Amino acid sequence: MIQQTLVLIKPDGVQRGLIGEIIKRLEQRGLKIVGMKMVHVDKSFAEKHYTEDIEKRHGKKVRDYLIDYVSHDPIIAMVIQGSSAIEVVRKIVGTTYPGESPIGTIRGDFAHVSKARAKEKNQGRNLVHASANEEDAKKELALWFSVDEIHDYKLSAEEHLI
Ligand code: CDP
Ligand code: MG
Repeated sequence: MIQQTLVLIKPDGVQRGLIGEIIKRLEQRGLKIVGMKMVHVDKSFAEKHYTEDIEKRHGKKVRDYLIDYVSHDPIIAMVIQGSSAIEVVRKIVGTTYPGESPIGTIRGDFAHVSKARAKEKNQGRNLVHASANEEDAKKELALWFSVDEIHDYKLSAEEHLI
């Protein structure tokens, strides 16, 4: 199934000069970028992205940190399209805590902080956000992108990719 998913290069990815490296990994897998922009969101927008669900799963301190952090500096927002793109992108990104994320994933190759350290600091800088499932992707894409910011076009190499 062809899916679209939201990818954010979070402030640590932008600050560390990893925009190109992260985009490269999505492109080299044959995924298509159908929307992309640099945005500096405010706290009330960030609250809509990091919803109460984060608080339920990780606690209030983590949610407060995320809202503060993601609104502190510009980030890159992308709509990525491809076959089972939601799952494929999550694999490229890796798992939540970089120290546990396999080598070869973005989080596993460019960060190393352990789960214990992330919990101790109530913050987990892990470079990228990627929608977790179909329901989240739908909600997050609607939050970050208007319909006219998502482009329907063909890549010249598309017949070899999908
Ligand atoms: O991003 P992912 O879907 O892998 O993880 P999540 O469980 O949806 O959590 C969202 C974000 O919260 C993570 O990407 C981390 O940046 C952050 N987090 C944190 O700062 N401290 C934790 N103990 C857990 C998550
Ligand atoms: Mg998540």
